[in-house]
Amino acid sequence: MELLKKLNNYRLRNKISQQNLAKKLKVAYSTVNRWLTRKTTPNDMQKYNIEETLNALTKKQSLNTKTITKEKEYPIRERIKNLKIKEQLAMYEIDINNTIPKNNTPLVIIGDVMDALRKIPSESISCIVTSPPYWNLRDYYIEGQIGRERTPEEYINKLTEISYELLRVLKKDGAYFLNIGDTYIDKGLQLIPQRLAYRMISDVQTIGKNKKKIGWLLRNQIIWHKPNHMPSPVKSRFTNTYEVIYFFSRNDWEKDLYFDIDSLRIPYKSSQENNPDFPKYLGEEEYKKIIPIIEDKNKSTKYNGKFKGNERNIGASPGGRQSITGINYIKKRKVELPREVICDYLRKWRKTRNISAEEIDKILGYKHTAGHWFRKDAGGSLPTPDDWKKLKKILNFDDKYDTQMTEMHYVLQTIDYHPKGKNPGDIWEIKTAKLPNRPHFSVFPEELPRKAILSCCPSDGIALDPFAGSGTTGKVAKELNRKSILIELQSDFVKLIQERCGEISKIFV
Ligand SMILES: C[S@@+](CC[C@H](N)C(=O)[O-])C[C@H]1O[C@@H](n2cnc3c(N)ncnc32)[C@H](O)[C@@H]1O
Repeated sequence: MELLKKLNNYRLRNKISQQNLAKKLKVAYSTVNRWLTRKTTPNDMQKYNIEETLNALTKKQSLNTKTITKEKEYPIRERIKNLKIKEQLAMYEIDINNTIPKNNTPLVIIGDVMDALRKIPSESISCIVTSPPYWNLRDYYIEGQIGRERTPEEYINKLTEISYELLRVLKKDGAYFLNIGDTYIDKGLQLIPQRLAYRMISDVQTIGKNKKKIGWLLRNQIIWHKPNHMPSPVKSRFTNTYEVIYFFSRNDWEKDLYFDIDSLRIPYKSSQENNPDFPKYLGEEEYKKIIPIIEDKNKSTKYNGKFKGNERNIGASPGGRQSITGINYIKKRKVELPREVICDYLRKWRKTRNISAEEIDKILGYKHTAGHWFRKDAGGSLPTPDDWKKLKKILNFDDKYDTQMTEMHYVLQTIDYHPKGKNPGDIWEIKTAKLPNRPHFSVFPEELPRKAILSCCPSDGIALDPFAGSGTTGKVAKELNRKSILIELQSDFVKLIQERCGEISKIFV
């Protein structure tokens, strides 16, 4: 038998992780990992005498009577599994007509993700947040697990297929947060997350009875930066310190996505408000006095990028831009009168004096200017204080609007801050989490599903995690008073989910 096949058989027969296999073979983990992703026996396997080591290990094993070859049995699971789905649902007091939890007790569906999703009615879920097993990283030792496909392409195909079932169960204003990691083959990054996201947004599916064509719309590629990332022994590249989270919605939304960004706003880092040196409003004389101080201050503030941490009113005007680079005042009328009011007033007086806009231009020595003062459309404008005084001499109108049209002051240009804070942006800095006594179990830090649920799951909505693992999404949803459905292939994890979520309902498919 080909050596690579032999090695694979040995590993599967004994259900050992790649790390343990590396230890047994006395070879670096990265080398074993590289071998196992190949289709044919790599040349360097001979160099490490793998054939002899495997023979020795197998021989030792045949003498060891304790070798476990039989898969664990789950009598209760088997018993419940034999019930029809309706009977299972009834047992756990779940709505028989659809698999919808009635309250905030997480509903755990134990079984393969596709089988479980098929039990969930269309357009019933508000927010999906999940992290599937990454390709070729971990072995959960269970048939049907995602992540053990032979090639990245197969893995991407599978997750794309699952995404269509997710698309079906998602409400029209719902969202899908997909956290997925990448993998190296022969020191080369495979771009698996990006390839999957690209597939998902390129394919269109015909779903439902009405044969509707829908697909995924990618709203953000969120960078989950891990400030406590593990130190890594890599010598010829930089350590990986982030993962991506794709934020999708359906591309057929009729009403826009449910998105409560207010629940996640963060404080602004800096604000020009309440700066006693530079008051919001200044009169002509006060402004003149302060000019040298402004010039001095502006010398020390260098322009540092158009956005500089501010989200609104950026780049809208030179004043707005300057306001984030330094101190800037602009001269404005003290009172902003509606343009239509002044236009009606001036039209009335022009008619009374029987004079045309062209004649006014001529008297003032202007070309195509006065006409704008008598227009209500977008091309109209208000006369400047000086022009107002000149116009008054020509039309001889009363004093009604003189003060409002001529009184000016200087206004400090500031950024239009949102009163509830800043949009947190697409780089999420969240420390990784660990479960006590389970160091290798990759769990969500609670902050991750919390951000997804708060922003995209209304209080009466349902959050879904189709690869639930230890049930972090259910725990967070319950704490936030939301309903949740968790799908998990491993029935062993139910105890852990229960420990973390408290009371749960469960069914097997
Ligand atoms: C990365 S873990 C999820 C961890 C989870 N985010 C948490 O906070 O605990 C992925 C989970 O997907 C499960 N899984 C793998 N293949 C599956 C399948 N075909 N159907 C359902 N679940 C599956 C694994 O058993 C594992 O628990």
